[in-house]
Amino acid sequence: REKKLKEYLSIYSQYVDFYHDELLKNKTNSNARDYLKNRSLGKEEVKKFKIGYIKKNPNFFDKLKDEFSEQALVESGLFYLDEKKKIYLERFRSRLIFPINNISGQPIALGGRIIEKLDYLAKYINSPETAFFKKGSNLYNLDLARKLSNKIDHVYLVEGYMDVVGLSKNGIENVVANLGTSLTDRQISILNQFFNDIIVSFDGDESGYKAALRAAENSIKELQPEKQISFIFLPDGEDPDSYVNKNGKANFIDFTKQAKISIHQFIFNHYKQQTENNPSSMAIFEKKLRSIAATIKDDFIKKYVLEFFLEKISLLTPHSNVGKKNFYTKKI
Ligand code: GTP
Ligand code: MN
Ligand code: MN
Ligand code: MN
Ligand code: MN
Repeated sequence: REKKLKEYLSIYSQYVDFYHDELLKNKTNSNARDYLKNRSLGKEEVKKFKIGYIKKNPNFFDKLKDEFSEQALVESGLFYLDEKKKIYLERFRSRLIFPINNISGQPIALGGRIIEKLDYLAKYINSPETAFFKKGSNLYNLDLARKLSNKIDHVYLVEGYMDVVGLSKNGIENVVANLGTSLTDRQISILNQFFNDIIVSFDGDESGYKAALRAAENSIKELQPEKQISFIFLPDGEDPDSYVNKNGKANFIDFTKQAKISIHQFIFNHYKQQTENNPSSMAIFEKKLRSIAATIKDDFIKKYVLEFFLEKISLLTPHSNVGKKNFYTKKI
Protein backbone atom coordinates (compact mmCIF):
# COMPACT_ATOMS: atom_id res chain seq x y z
CA ARG A 1 0.00 0.00 0.00
CA GLU A 2 2.91 2.34 0.73
CA LYS A 3 4.16 1.72 -2.77
CA LYS A 4 0.72 2.26 -4.26
CA LEU A 5 0.37 5.57 -2.46
CA LYS A 6 3.74 6.74 -3.75
CA GLU A 7 2.73 5.80 -7.25
CA TYR A 8 -0.65 7.51 -6.88
CA LEU A 9 0.92 10.74 -5.64
CA SER A 10 3.43 10.64 -8.43
CA ILE A 11 0.74 10.23 -11.09
CA TYR A 12 -1.22 13.15 -9.67
CA SER A 13 1.75 15.44 -9.31
CA GLN A 14 3.01 14.80 -12.85
CA TYR A 15 -0.49 15.22 -14.19
CA VAL A 16 -1.16 18.47 -12.34
CA ASP A 17 2.23 19.96 -13.25
CA PHE A 18 1.85 19.05 -16.89
CA TYR A 19 -1.56 20.64 -17.36
CA HIS A 20 -0.67 23.62 -15.23
CA ASP A 21 2.22 24.37 -17.58
CA GLU A 22 -0.06 23.81 -20.53
CA LEU A 23 -2.48 26.41 -19.22
CA LEU A 24 0.28 28.93 -18.59
CA LYS A 25 2.31 28.40 -21.73
CA ASN A 26 0.56 26.63 -24.55
CA LYS A 27 -0.56 29.07 -27.25
CA THR A 28 -3.58 26.96 -28.11
CA ASN A 29 -4.95 27.36 -24.59
CA SER A 30 -5.65 31.06 -24.88
CA ASN A 31 -9.39 30.31 -24.65
CA ALA A 32 -8.88 29.02 -21.12
CA ARG A 33 -6.70 31.97 -20.17
CA ASP A 34 -9.34 34.32 -21.55
CA TYR A 35 -11.99 32.56 -19.53
CA LEU A 36 -9.99 33.13 -16.35
CA LYS A 37 -9.29 36.72 -17.29
CA ASN A 38 -13.02 37.29 -17.72
CA ARG A 39 -13.45 36.05 -14.20
CA SER A 40 -10.71 38.48 -13.16
CA LEU A 41 -8.17 35.78 -12.39
CA GLY A 42 -4.60 36.07 -13.58
CA LYS A 43 -1.28 34.26 -13.45
CA GLU A 44 -0.90 34.76 -9.74
CA GLU A 45 -4.03 32.82 -8.82
CA VAL A 46 -3.38 30.22 -11.51
CA LYS A 47 0.01 29.58 -9.96
CA LYS A 48 -1.05 29.72 -6.35
CA PHE A 49 -3.75 27.12 -6.91
CA LYS A 50 -1.89 25.30 -9.69
CA ILE A 51 -4.92 25.52 -11.91
CA GLY A 52 -4.58 23.63 -15.16
CA TYR A 53 -6.38 23.17 -18.42
CA ILE A 54 -6.85 19.98 -20.37
CA LYS A 55 -7.57 20.14 -24.05
CA LYS A 56 -10.30 18.33 -25.84
CA ASN A 57 -7.95 15.72 -27.26
CA PRO A 58 -5.15 15.28 -24.78
CA ASN A 59 -2.60 12.52 -24.95
CA PHE A 60 -0.94 12.47 -21.58
CA PHE A 61 -2.04 8.90 -20.94
CA ASP A 62 0.51 7.67 -23.44
CA LYS A 63 3.31 9.53 -21.70
CA LEU A 64 2.38 8.25 -18.26
CA LYS A 65 2.02 4.72 -19.59
CA ASP A 66 5.80 4.43 -19.93
CA GLU A 67 6.15 4.79 -16.19
CA PHE A 68 2.89 3.46 -14.69
CA SER A 69 0.67 0.47 -15.28
CA GLU A 70 -2.68 0.95 -17.00
CA GLN A 71 -4.31 -0.33 -13.83
CA ALA A 72 -2.63 2.31 -11.68
CA LEU A 73 -3.64 5.02 -14.13
CA VAL A 74 -7.26 3.92 -14.10
CA GLU A 75 -7.27 3.59 -10.31
CA SER A 76 -6.15 7.20 -10.04
CA GLY A 77 -9.53 8.24 -11.43
CA LEU A 78 -7.89 10.44 -14.04
CA PHE A 79 -8.51 8.00 -16.88
CA TYR A 80 -11.13 5.48 -17.83
CA LEU A 81 -11.50 2.90 -20.53
CA ASP A 82 -13.95 3.69 -23.30
CA GLU A 83 -15.48 0.24 -23.75
CA LYS A 84 -16.53 0.81 -27.35
CA LYS A 85 -13.46 2.49 -28.72
CA LYS A 86 -11.10 0.45 -26.54
CA ILE A 87 -9.07 3.49 -25.67
CA TYR A 88 -8.30 5.26 -22.43
CA LEU A 89 -9.91 8.65 -22.08
CA GLU A 90 -9.19 11.52 -19.75
CA ARG A 91 -12.05 12.16 -17.39
CA PHE A 92 -11.20 15.87 -17.21
CA ARG A 93 -10.73 16.62 -20.89
CA SER A 94 -12.02 20.04 -21.98
CA ARG A 95 -11.93 21.29 -18.41
CA LEU A 96 -10.10 23.69 -16.17
CA ILE A 97 -8.75 21.65 -13.29
CA PHE A 98 -8.40 22.58 -9.64
CA PRO A 99 -6.06 20.25 -7.75
CA ILE A 100 -7.41 19.08 -4.40
CA ASN A 101 -4.46 18.59 -2.09
CA ASN A 102 -3.94 16.55 1.01
CA ILE A 103 -2.92 18.33 4.18
CA SER A 104 0.74 18.28 3.10
CA GLY A 105 -0.07 19.99 -0.17
CA GLN A 106 0.19 17.00 -2.50
CA PRO A 107 -2.57 16.67 -5.09
CA ILE A 108 -4.80 13.63 -4.55
CA ALA A 109 -7.86 14.54 -6.61
CA LEU A 110 -9.21 17.14 -9.01
CA GLY A 111 -12.21 19.32 -9.54
CA GLY A 112 -12.86 20.19 -13.16
CA ARG A 113 -14.94 22.97 -14.68
CA ILE A 114 -16.10 23.31 -18.26
CA ILE A 115 -15.40 26.68 -19.80
CA GLU A 116 -17.84 26.47 -22.64
CA LYS A 117 -21.43 25.89 -21.74
CA LEU A 118 -22.52 22.55 -23.16
CA ASP A 119 -25.85 21.23 -21.94
CA TYR A 120 -24.80 17.61 -21.97
CA LEU A 121 -21.81 18.18 -19.67
CA ALA A 122 -21.98 18.78 -15.92
CA LYS A 123 -20.51 22.17 -15.04
CA TYR A 124 -18.19 20.57 -12.50
CA ILE A 125 -16.94 17.08 -11.92
CA ASN A 126 -14.69 15.68 -9.19
CA SER A 127 -12.32 12.77 -9.17
CA PRO A 128 -14.19 9.68 -8.09
CA GLU A 129 -13.40 8.34 -4.65
CA THR A 130 -10.22 6.32 -4.82
CA ALA A 131 -8.13 4.32 -2.40
CA PHE A 132 -6.44 7.58 -1.38
CA PHE A 133 -9.18 10.15 -1.77
CA LYS A 134 -12.36 10.23 0.29
CA LYS A 135 -14.52 13.27 -0.39
CA GLY A 136 -15.89 13.57 3.12
CA SER A 137 -12.41 13.59 4.64
CA ASN A 138 -10.93 16.35 2.51
CA LEU A 139 -11.46 20.05 2.03
CA TYR A 140 -10.30 22.13 -0.88
CA ASN A 141 -7.48 24.54 0.08
CA LEU A 142 -7.05 23.19 3.62
CA ASP A 143 -3.33 22.78 2.98
CA LEU A 144 -2.91 26.54 2.45
CA ALA A 145 -5.59 27.78 4.86
CA ARG A 146 -4.26 25.82 7.82
CA LYS A 147 -0.91 27.64 7.58
CA LEU A 148 -2.74 30.82 8.61
CA SER A 149 -4.30 29.25 11.66
CA ASN A 150 -1.63 30.49 14.05
CA LYS A 151 -2.61 34.05 13.13
CA ILE A 152 -6.31 33.74 12.34
CA ASP A 153 -8.83 31.92 14.51
CA HIS A 154 -11.62 31.57 11.98
CA VAL A 155 -12.05 29.94 8.61
CA TYR A 156 -14.65 30.47 5.93
CA LEU A 157 -16.30 27.36 4.62
CA VAL A 158 -17.65 27.94 1.11
CA GLU A 159 -19.29 25.78 -1.55
CA GLY A 160 -17.03 26.10 -4.52
CA TYR A 161 -13.50 26.17 -5.88
CA MET A 162 -14.14 29.55 -7.43
CA ASP A 163 -15.24 30.95 -4.09
CA VAL A 164 -11.91 29.94 -2.57
CA VAL A 165 -9.93 31.36 -5.47
CA GLY A 166 -11.99 34.56 -5.69
CA LEU A 167 -11.73 35.31 -1.97
CA SER A 168 -8.02 34.57 -2.04
CA LYS A 169 -7.53 36.95 -4.94
CA ASN A 170 -9.19 39.61 -2.81
CA GLY A 171 -6.89 38.95 0.12
CA ILE A 172 -9.01 36.54 2.15
CA GLU A 173 -7.08 33.30 2.31
CA ASN A 174 -8.51 31.50 5.35
CA VAL A 175 -11.06 29.73 3.19
CA VAL A 176 -11.84 26.10 2.41
CA ALA A 177 -14.54 24.46 0.33
CA ASN A 178 -16.27 21.19 0.95
CA LEU A 179 -16.33 19.20 -2.20
CA GLY A 180 -19.87 19.33 -3.48
CA THR A 181 -21.07 17.01 -0.70
CA SER A 182 -22.81 17.75 2.57
CA LEU A 183 -20.50 18.78 5.35
CA THR A 184 -19.32 15.69 7.21
CA ASP A 185 -18.42 15.16 10.87
CA ARG A 186 -14.91 14.36 9.75
CA GLN A 187 -14.56 17.69 7.95
CA ILE A 188 -15.74 19.56 11.03
CA SER A 189 -13.32 17.78 13.28
CA ILE A 190 -10.47 18.47 10.86
CA LEU A 191 -11.35 22.17 10.78
CA ASN A 192 -11.64 22.27 14.56
CA GLN A 193 -8.07 21.04 14.83
CA PHE A 194 -6.91 24.29 13.27
CA PHE A 195 -9.61 26.92 13.78
CA ASN A 196 -11.93 27.99 16.59
CA ASP A 197 -14.64 29.45 14.43
CA ILE A 198 -16.03 27.97 11.24
CA ILE A 199 -18.00 30.55 9.28
CA VAL A 200 -20.24 28.77 6.82
CA SER A 201 -20.79 31.02 3.88
CA PHE A 202 -22.65 29.25 1.16
CA ASP A 203 -24.35 30.68 -1.90
CA GLY A 204 -27.22 33.14 -1.50
CA ASP A 205 -29.71 30.92 -3.23
CA GLU A 206 -32.13 28.22 -2.21
CA SER A 207 -29.70 25.36 -2.60
CA GLY A 208 -27.07 27.25 -0.60
CA TYR A 209 -29.59 27.88 2.15
CA LYS A 210 -30.67 24.26 2.24
CA ALA A 211 -27.08 23.09 2.33
CA ALA A 212 -26.39 25.51 5.18
CA LEU A 213 -29.33 24.14 7.16
CA ARG A 214 -28.18 20.59 6.57
CA ALA A 215 -24.68 21.56 7.65
CA ALA A 216 -26.07 23.24 10.77
CA GLU A 217 -28.19 20.31 11.86
CA ASN A 218 -25.39 17.90 11.24
CA SER A 219 -22.57 19.87 12.78
CA ILE A 220 -24.36 21.06 15.90
CA LYS A 221 -23.92 17.48 17.14
CA GLU A 222 -20.16 18.01 17.11
CA LEU A 223 -20.11 21.43 18.72
CA GLN A 224 -17.38 21.69 21.35
CA PRO A 225 -16.70 24.20 24.13
CA GLU A 226 -14.38 26.94 22.81
CA LYS A 227 -15.40 26.17 19.23
CA GLN A 228 -17.95 28.07 17.23
CA ILE A 229 -19.79 27.43 14.05
CA SER A 230 -21.54 30.40 12.54
CA PHE A 231 -23.31 31.29 9.34
CA ILE A 232 -23.61 34.19 6.97
CA PHE A 233 -26.27 34.52 4.29
CA LEU A 234 -25.29 36.49 1.25
CA PRO A 235 -27.75 38.61 -0.69
CA ASP A 236 -29.92 36.78 -3.21
CA GLY A 237 -28.01 35.45 -6.16
CA GLU A 238 -24.54 36.17 -4.80
CA ASP A 239 -21.90 33.70 -3.84
CA PRO A 240 -18.71 34.59 -1.94
CA ASP A 241 -16.78 34.92 -5.20
CA SER A 242 -19.26 37.24 -6.89
CA TYR A 243 -19.83 39.21 -3.69
CA VAL A 244 -16.18 39.89 -2.94
CA ASN A 245 -15.40 40.76 -6.54
CA LYS A 246 -18.16 43.36 -6.54
CA ASN A 247 -17.68 44.77 -3.06
CA GLY A 248 -14.08 44.09 -2.06
CA LYS A 249 -12.37 42.64 0.97
CA ALA A 250 -13.22 45.26 3.60
CA ASN A 251 -16.90 45.11 2.73
CA PHE A 252 -16.91 41.31 2.82
CA ILE A 253 -15.35 41.34 6.28
CA ASP A 254 -17.76 44.02 7.53
CA PHE A 255 -20.63 42.07 6.12
CA THR A 256 -19.41 38.96 7.91
CA LYS A 257 -19.14 40.82 11.20
CA GLN A 258 -22.63 42.21 11.14
CA ALA A 259 -24.47 39.38 9.41
CA LYS A 260 -22.93 36.36 11.07
CA ILE A 261 -25.21 34.35 13.31
CA SER A 262 -24.45 31.42 15.56
CA ILE A 263 -25.44 27.90 14.65
CA HIS A 264 -28.08 27.67 17.39
CA GLN A 265 -29.55 31.03 16.45
CA PHE A 266 -29.76 29.96 12.80
CA ILE A 267 -31.53 26.72 13.67
CA PHE A 268 -33.90 28.56 15.96
CA ASN A 269 -34.67 31.19 13.31
CA HIS A 270 -35.25 28.60 10.65
CA TYR A 271 -37.83 26.62 12.59
CA LYS A 272 -39.43 29.68 14.09
CA GLN A 273 -40.13 30.93 10.62
CA GLN A 274 -42.09 27.81 9.88
CA THR A 275 -44.14 28.04 13.03
CA GLU A 276 -47.63 29.44 13.26
CA ASN A 277 -49.34 31.13 16.13
CA ASN A 278 -51.24 28.17 17.54
CA PRO A 279 -50.54 25.50 20.17
CA SER A 280 -50.15 22.62 17.77
CA SER A 281 -47.59 24.40 15.61
CA MET A 282 -45.77 25.66 18.70
CA ALA A 283 -45.64 22.13 20.08
CA ILE A 284 -44.05 20.84 16.88
CA PHE A 285 -41.58 23.71 17.01
CA GLU A 286 -40.50 23.00 20.56
CA LYS A 287 -40.25 19.26 19.95
CA LYS A 288 -38.09 19.84 16.91
CA LEU A 289 -35.69 22.09 18.78
CA ARG A 290 -35.53 19.70 21.71
CA SER A 291 -34.77 16.82 19.39
CA ILE A 292 -31.98 18.78 17.72
CA ALA A 293 -30.49 19.75 21.08
CA ALA A 294 -30.63 16.10 22.12
CA THR A 295 -28.25 15.14 19.30
CA ILE A 296 -25.44 17.28 20.73
CA LYS A 297 -22.65 15.09 22.03
CA ASP A 298 -21.02 17.45 24.49
CA ASP A 299 -23.15 17.54 27.65
CA PHE A 300 -22.47 21.16 28.50
CA ILE A 301 -23.15 22.44 25.02
CA LYS A 302 -26.29 20.34 24.97
CA LYS A 303 -27.48 21.91 28.19
CA TYR A 304 -26.87 25.48 27.11
CA VAL A 305 -28.23 25.11 23.61
CA LEU A 306 -31.41 23.64 25.03
CA GLU A 307 -31.64 26.51 27.53
CA PHE A 308 -31.14 28.97 24.69
CA PHE A 309 -33.93 27.38 22.67
CA LEU A 310 -36.35 27.25 25.57
CA GLU A 311 -35.66 30.79 26.67
CA LYS A 312 -36.20 32.03 23.13
CA ILE A 313 -39.44 30.11 22.93
CA SER A 314 -40.62 31.55 26.23
CA LEU A 315 -39.97 35.05 24.89
CA LEU A 316 -42.32 34.34 22.02
CA THR A 317 -45.40 34.11 24.22
CA PRO A 318 -48.03 35.23 23.51
CA HIS A 319 -46.67 34.03 20.19
CA SER A 320 -46.73 37.43 18.62
CA ASN A 321 -43.43 37.02 16.77
CA VAL A 322 -43.96 33.56 15.46
CA GLY A 323 -43.86 33.07 11.74
CA LYS A 324 -42.09 36.27 10.81
CA LYS A 325 -40.66 35.66 7.40
CA ASN A 326 -37.06 35.77 6.37
CA PHE A 327 -35.63 37.88 9.11
CA TYR A 328 -32.43 35.90 9.04
CA THR A 329 -31.63 37.08 5.53
CA LYS A 330 -33.44 40.36 5.28
CA LYS A 331 -31.62 41.82 8.26
CA ILE A 332 -28.85 42.68 5.82
P1 GTP B 1 -18.81 29.02 -10.83
O1 GTP B 1 -20.07 28.78 -11.59
O2 GTP B 1 -17.62 28.65 -11.63
O3 GTP B 1 -18.74 30.36 -10.21
O4 GTP B 1 -18.72 27.96 -9.67
P2 GTP B 1 -19.56 27.88 -8.33
O5 GTP B 1 -18.66 27.26 -7.31
O6 GTP B 1 -20.21 29.17 -8.00
O7 GTP B 1 -20.66 26.82 -8.75
P3 GTP B 1 -21.97 26.39 -7.99
O8 GTP B 1 -22.38 27.39 -7.00
O9 GTP B 1 -22.95 26.02 -9.05
O10 GTP B 1 -21.54 25.05 -7.29
C1 GTP B 1 -20.79 25.03 -6.08
C2 GTP B 1 -19.92 23.80 -6.04
O11 GTP B 1 -20.72 22.62 -6.17
C3 GTP B 1 -18.91 23.70 -7.20
O12 GTP B 1 -17.70 24.36 -6.94
C4 GTP B 1 -18.72 22.21 -7.32
O13 GTP B 1 -17.81 21.71 -6.34
C5 GTP B 1 -20.10 21.67 -7.01
N1 GTP B 1 -20.87 21.48 -8.26
C6 GTP B 1 -21.57 22.41 -8.94
N2 GTP B 1 -22.13 21.91 -10.05
C7 GTP B 1 -21.79 20.61 -10.06
C8 GTP B 1 -22.06 19.52 -10.95
O14 GTP B 1 -22.73 19.67 -11.98
N3 GTP B 1 -21.54 18.30 -10.60
C9 GTP B 1 -20.78 18.12 -9.47
N4 GTP B 1 -20.29 16.90 -9.19
N5 GTP B 1 -20.50 19.11 -8.62
C10 GTP B 1 -20.99 20.35 -8.90
MN1 MN C 1 -12.56 35.55 14.58
MN1 MN D 1 -24.83 27.41 -6.25
MN1 MN E 1 -21.68 29.37 -6.42
MN1 MN F 1 -19.70 31.17 -8.48
